[in-house]
Amino acid sequence: MSRFVTIISLLVSILVLSCQKDENPVPVESDLTSIPYNPISYTPQIPSTFPGMVQPEDNKMTVDGIELGRKLFYDPILSVDSTLSCSSCHNQSANFTDNLDFSFGVNQARTLRSSMSLVDIGYHQDGLFWDGRSATIEELSLLPIIDPLEMQNTWEKVESDLRSHPKYPADFRKAFGITQRADINRDLATKAIAQFLRSMVSSGNAKFDRFFRGEIGMTEQEIDGYLMFFDLRPGELPDAECGHCHAAPLFTTNEFFNNGITESPDFNGFPDKGRGAITGDPTDNGKFKVPSLRNIVLSPPYMHDGRFQTLEEVIDHYNSGGKFSPNKHPLIAPLGMNEYQKEAILAFLHTLTDTTFLQNPAYSDPK
Ligand code: HEC
Ligand code: HEC
Repeated sequence: MSRFVTIISLLVSILVLSCQKDENPVPVESDLTSIPYNPISYTPQIPSTFPGMVQPEDNKMTVDGIELGRKLFYDPILSVDSTLSCSSCHNQSANFTDNLDFSFGVNQARTLRSSMSLVDIGYHQDGLFWDGRSATIEELSLLPIIDPLEMQNTWEKVESDLRSHPKYPADFRKAFGITQRADINRDLATKAIAQFLRSMVSSGNAKFDRFFRGEIGMTEQEIDGYLMFFDLRPGELPDAECGHCHAAPLFTTNEFFNNGITESPDFNGFPDKGRGAITGDPTDNGKFKVPSLRNIVLSPPYMHDGRFQTLEEVIDHYNSGGKFSPNKHPLIAPLGMNEYQKEAILAFLHTLTDTTFLQNPAYSDPK
């Protein structure tokens, strides 16, 4: 009996508590206009060898916009049970990946693909995600929050949590000039996140960048890797063909190709259709976004399903010419590299490590 009473009183108190919460919401109409709004436009520090970055007309970067986006990126408030932030799966020291084949969402859910690096993401104008299904970072940033395998939240809850938060309303005011808490919405939250992500640009201090600008030399092996990567010594060294798809300076062309990792007799044999599921064109099945190779040493395992644990395995794959499928890209063919030459490609990939980027405090957790 006494246990029964305890349970009843527990239920009553839960009911009372939840009612109290509903009856006393933080006033959403509270005025924010006393907080100054003086947006300072931000120009990303772009290496001299990089192209200019195109920013959307309706979401130009500002210092306060980036800072708000950074807070949101690192804040578990975005996930349903406040256990995961964007950074849980996009960790700076791992080149903004999580070093897993498939990521863990809320409640140990597993994603269907491997997390992706965010380096130089502001340049990716031709489709985001492995299958290119999002056109802009703003549009993409709506999705992890409601993904049933990721943050499992609703935007209604996120908006309400941000509006009633002690600090965020002032941050939104500074970033976007809103006048009241109720003006906080998903559109502004994703705009801020997108500004922060666009600010994450390579430093230009990687060994390759400094070599390319003629500031320093590289070892003979690194140079041999460089020459093969970009097919610069035909006849003398094998053409490794990498640079056609992983083109400098971004080390991606942002296109979608089948690089021969999955064997399939026809267009229907790919367990993950990739680009084809988005375009509806079966000849796109098995095609995936060409990822950047900057900081690639830091983000194993490799490919959209994390199938290769090491770069040695990746290089062996390309050297072998890959597996048969009808739309395998013609450049994926046996390369004929010997052991020294494979090591030279690996040594070259190491020159793409940008420690300044990986340790840049501007991209780190603001707390
Ligand atoms: C549970 C892990 C997880 C969380 C949390 C997560 N992501 Fe991701 N992210 C992934 C995975 C997995 C992919 C690849 C998904 C695919 O291609 O289908 C990805 C891809 C991306 C890409 C595409 C990169 C490219 O090169 O196209 C961006 C941008 C991104 N995430 C940003 C974010 C932001 C912003 C947040 C927070 C709002 C976030 N992610 C939260 C796992 C996560
Ligand atoms: C025909 C275009 C093409 C060529 C040539 C090419 N790649 Fe790739 N590369 C891709 C694509 C597409 C992916 C992603 C495939 C996937 O995940 O299904 C990829 C993925 C990778 C990855 C894994 C990246 C990650 O974040 O998981 C590495 C490493 C890599 N390539 C290195 C190389 C090297 C080294 C060469 C030359 C020996 C090369 N690539 C040649 C298109 C190409």
